[in-house]
Amino acid sequence: MRRIAVLTSGGDAPGMNAAIRGVVRAGIELGLEVLGVRDGYTGLIEDQLTPLGARDVGGILQRGGTLLGSARCAEFRTEKGIATAVDVLARRGVEGLVVIGGSGSQAGSLALSARGVSVVGVASTIDNDLYGADISIGVDTALNVALEAIDRLRVTATSHRRAIMVEVMGRDCGYLALMVGIAGGAEAVCIPEVPFDPEQVARTIVAAYDRQKLHALIVVAEGVTHNAAALVRYFDQNRARLGFQIRTTILGHVQRGGEPTAFDRILASRLAVAAVKELAAGRHGVLCGLQAGCVATTPLTEVVGRSKPLNAEMLELARVLAR
Ligand code: F6P
Repeated sequence: MRRIAVLTSGGDAPGMNAAIRGVVRAGIELGLEVLGVRDGYTGLIEDQLTPLGARDVGGILQRGGTLLGSARCAEFRTEKGIATAVDVLARRGVEGLVVIGGSGSQAGSLALSARGVSVVGVASTIDNDLYGADISIGVDTALNVALEAIDRLRVTATSHRRAIMVEVMGRDCGYLALMVGIAGGAEAVCIPEVPFDPEQVARTIVAAYDRQKLHALIVVAEGVTHNAAALVRYFDQNRARLGFQIRTTILGHVQRGGEPTAFDRILASRLAVAAVKELAAGRHGVLCGLQAGCVATTPLTEVVGRSKPLNAEMLELARVLAR
């Protein structure tokens, strides 16, 4: 193997730059030429590949976002788009591809792999919904960003004895909400994996005030059926009966920005170097992810379309600690 390429795809995640740097420098170490693909699968289809040297990835370790750019590429979900990407890689003499991204991006990896391209995925998504990775690149930073916001919101909530609702990202996965709920001391956590109705949440808040709490903090995952807007509507409609005042903050893309934490930089570096080593050893069609503290590979066929089970222990922890 002489030439590999690297791309970042889907929602960006803090630590992606550290992963790009890891791929480039591990590639150089193994005597490989590394090409960077602009804007994920879009750039692959459009043949936007440029060589990356060790100095090109200098000074990016600590930066959020992705030097290469990222995209959600509808064209790559078509036969024509995939075939074009395969042609571009062949024409450019690329013998191995590292795809840094989440579930949609790794579905793309599998599609390429099924067409004979040597691909290795690197688990990167703030949602932490990728099977085969206990914790993906970007999760730790996103959690800490959300936590900082929650700590601030609790201060003002206490001053006014208000309830504060914070909606966090995560798509259909409640991981971020649950973990930030535990770390931030939430009175209630609403996640897609556990069905609930607004009255149940309202009762939890009222019970918290009955226990002399000075505020109530509710963390809501964006993927729940009754999202923050629906919950607030319900609470406002029943304000006189419930007796508490609520304010809402939707964190949104704030969670994807910022500098990656030390954990994310190290995780990204480990996974990236492992991915290049896999390719160089002739192994591919796998995802590199952290499992029980070690870098492990899982076949993409097992990763794509699977979801991770909710950690029941964490759910119980959140409930117990909300007393
Ligand atoms: O997958 C990462 C994520 O941030 C999700 O949590 C969120 O639902 C989605 O991406 C937002 O996507 P976009 O940046 O395309 O609006």
